Amino acid sequence: MRLLSGEAYRRLVQDTRVLEHDRFGDKVLRRRDDRVIKLFRTKRLLSLSLIYPYSLRFSRNARKLNRLGVPSVEVEQLFYCASIRRHGVVYPLLPGETLGCLLEGRPNRDDLMQQLARFIAELHQKKIYFRSLHLGNILQLPDGRLGLIDVADLRFSLLPLTLWQRRRNFRHLLRRAEHRALFEQFGIERFIEHYLDAADVPQQKKAGFQTLIMG
Ligand SMILES: Nc1ncnc2c1ncn2[C@@H]1O[C@H](COP(=O)(O)OP(=O)(O)OP(=O)(O)O)[C@@H](O)[C@H]1O
Ligand SMILES: [Mg+2]
Repeated sequence: MRLLSGEAYRRLVQDTRVLEHDRFGDKVLRRRDDRVIKLFRTKRLLSLSLIYPYSLRFSRNARKLNRLGVPSVEVEQLFYCASIRRHGVVYPLLPGETLGCLLEGRPNRDDLMQQLARFIAELHQKKIYFRSLHLGNILQLPDGRLGLIDVADLRFSLLPLTLWQRRRNFRHLLRRAEHRALFEQFGIERFIEHYLDAADVPQQKKAGFQTLIMG
């Protein structure tokens, strides 16, 4: 990890566009050379993220995802800048668009919805528990495959994902009203059917799965 002086940080973010920010400041910046700078704030004073920063989790998770055949970013640089008290990562933009944007701008969403359901099943099959799973964190790449960004909060499980974890994933996907509307148009039950067709949920549990998600 590189330690960046305030001056080096200013150089890094010179001439960038802010993609995402919140009340604490900038979160994601895009450079003219199509590199993305993502910043992580330590939320609490005493936090695991002091010894195991989100930037490191992010880059390890991204690397492991790629190894498992799930496209994700390739981190080039990790840094800490004391003067802004932020950890950060730098990676080339993953080409593509978020599913949120793609689905909103498309009259016929069926294919993409089905692909998404299969993709979630694939993640679960690979025992990947991506807690930030939502339409803004999934991209469709130019070759049509789906990939993940924003991967700091992700776990590679040793055991198959529990029903509770799967449920949490679906709930998270449906949390934002504008996203939920897209799933409702396609049919939430229908979406779950497609997921179950591709997932390795035990047969006897499949029946209750719909109620578990919807209930
Ligand atoms: N590698 C990338 N390729 C393309 N676009 C990206 C990339 N990284 C970030 N973006 C864009 O920046 C936005 C915010 O990035 P990211 O999801 O990493 O930040 P975030 O602030 O954690 O978002 P949220 O908390 O809302 O999920 C994305 O929705 C996407 O539009
Ligand atoms: Mg995000």
